[in-house]
Parts: sequence; C-alpha cells; structure tokens
Amino acid sequence: MPELPKHFDLSGRTALITGAGGLLGPQHARALADVGARVLLTDIDAAPAAAAARALADAVPGAKAEAMRLDVTDPGGPAGLAATLDARGVGVDILVNNAAVDAKVGPAGPTHASRLEVFALEQWNREVAVGLTGAMLCAQAFGTRMAERGHGVILNIASDLGVIAPDQRLYRRGDVASESEQPVKPVTYSVIKHGLIGLTRYLATYWAGRGVRVNALSPGGVFANQEPEFVARLEGLIPLGRMATAGEYRAALQFLCSDAAAYMTGQNLIIDGGRSVW
Ligand SMILES: NC(=O)c1ccc[n+]([C@@H]2O[C@H](COP(=O)([O-])OP(=O)(O)OC[C@H]3O[C@@H](n4cnc5c(N)ncnc54)[C@H](O)[C@@H]3O)[C@@H](O)[C@H]2O)c1
Repeated sequence: MPELPKHFDLSGRTALITGAGGLLGPQHARALADVGARVLLTDIDAAPAAAAARALADAVPGAKAEAMRLDVTDPGGPAGLAATLDARGVGVDILVNNAAVDAKVGPAGPTHASRLEVFALEQWNREVAVGLTGAMLCAQAFGTRMAERGHGVILNIASDLGVIAPDQRLYRRGDVASESEQPVKPVTYSVIKHGLIGLTRYLATYWAGRGVRVNALSPGGVFANQEPEFVARLEGLIPLGRMATAGEYRAALQFLCSDAAAYMTGQNLIIDGGRSVW
C-alpha cells in the first residue's frame, strides 16, 4: 500500500457522522478512519451505531471510534452533544450530515400514501425534521464551534435526486392496477435533498472567511438487494449501467473531508454513474 499523500491525512482530527448506523454511515466512518480520523458514530438508534463502531474497530486496527446517541430532530440534541464534547475537550473538526428517513423501494417501500394528493403533513414534518432541519441544527452546533476555532469541514449527504426529479416510473408496481394508486418517491425526498444543496451554499459562503469549508456529496442509488425489476429499470437510466456499491463513495469522503479539497467549498459532488447527465 503506497503511503497516503499528506493532504489526505486526517490524523488528529475528529469526525462526527449523523445517522451512522444505517447503510452508508458505516462506510463514511470507515473512509475517515482509514485516513486517521477519530470517528464519532451517532444515530437516533444507539444499537446499530455501536455495532458499526465495533465493526470499524475490527476492520481498521487502531481506529479510534466511539458510538453515541444523537437524535438530530431534538432541538437540544446537537447543541447538548456539542457541550458534552466541549466538557471532554473534544472538538469536532468534520461534520457529516448523513441522517435521513428514506422510503425504501420494494414491498416495504412507498405505498399509495406516498402520493402527493394524500401525502400526510405528519410525514412531511418528520422527514424534513430529520433530513433538513437536523442538518441545520448540527451545523449550528458544530459549525459554530469550527468557525470559532477557525477551521473545519461540513459535508452534507444529498442525492442525485437533489439535482434531478425522481423518475416515478421506477417505483411503479405491477400489482397495482389503478394509476392513481401507484406508489411514488415522496415529495419530501426531493425537497430535502435540493434543500441540503441550498444549505451547503449558504453555509459555505457564511463561514468562508472563518476557515470552515462546506460541500455536499450527491450519491446515486446503492445496490442493497432491491427487487430485480426495480434494479433493471434504474440501471437503464444510468450511463454506467449499474447501481453503486456501498463502498464506492469512500474515496469521495476522504477527498471532501481532507485538505485535498482545501480550495473547494459550496459545491455539490455528484457521483451517480452519470445518471443526472442523461
Ligand atoms: N442508500 C442510497 O442509495 C442513497 C442514495 C443517495 C443518497 N443517500 C443518502 O445517504 C444517506 C445515508 O443513506 P442510507 O442508505 O445509509 O440510509 P439509512 O436509512 O440506511 O440510514 C439512515 C440512518 O439515519 C438514522 N436516523 C433516522 N432518524 C434519525 C434522527 N432523528 N436522528 C439521527 N439519526 C436518525 C437512522 O436510524 C439510520 O441509521 C441519507 O442521507 C440518504 O438520503 C442514500
């Protein structure tokens, strides 16, 4: 293994990841630990975050990983955790806003209740609270401290659907006869992901003079044993002809969160197999 170029080295830096107990969170943690960061894996659900921290310690010998409970929708949650870390002398150098409530595709995926005409306000509020308001609250708590210290990185995990509209034909179910009953990708997903890119630009310029860089990463769909019919349809929309593997965003995390991207702020890095350019 060749030695890492110095500008990718995150030794001595602490990264906090929200929603770290899901599919991609552990990959983000692995990416940052691989280049020397100490990683705080936070999630509303403590058990998967703890499991991810244990798996990380096994996978990366000497990795410094700690699991913590953080509900990003709790108005005092991010601020409370930041204060707890202050008391321990731990400053967060890198914040990865990754938490989300995403409708899964397939039999357990969106139902007709996902359709705009009947979309429940309660669901809108809950999903926006996690994906968008939670990212703002975390940026407020941890980014403010970064600005005070004069350095830091915030990375917002958006989506290819932060720059294009969902193709609702992907989510059609053959066993649903009526057009008006077909499930769709919920409106919240588009709004949250477009909003995160707006938040990225806002924060990037807001703190540009304070040493805090803020970017977004927009991944395309990750293969996670979705129904073959869905996968085939989606692959047909992707120039590279396949979905991503879960580990395929790790190098981007290392780039965006390290000094390798020192001259990059306010941008959205789209890694989607080319889907959004077709
Ligand atoms: N998986 C994909 O194909 C894909 C594609 C593009 C973008 N993304 C984005 O990447 C990110 C991670 O996706 P994933 O597939 O790992 O999702 P996931 O659903 O597997 O994980 C999301 C995590 O967020 C946590 N969470 C939910 N509510 C929370 C709250 N209130 N406070 C803190 N944590 C909370 C969940 O417990 C879960 O562990 C999301 O922002 C998602 O939108 C994923």
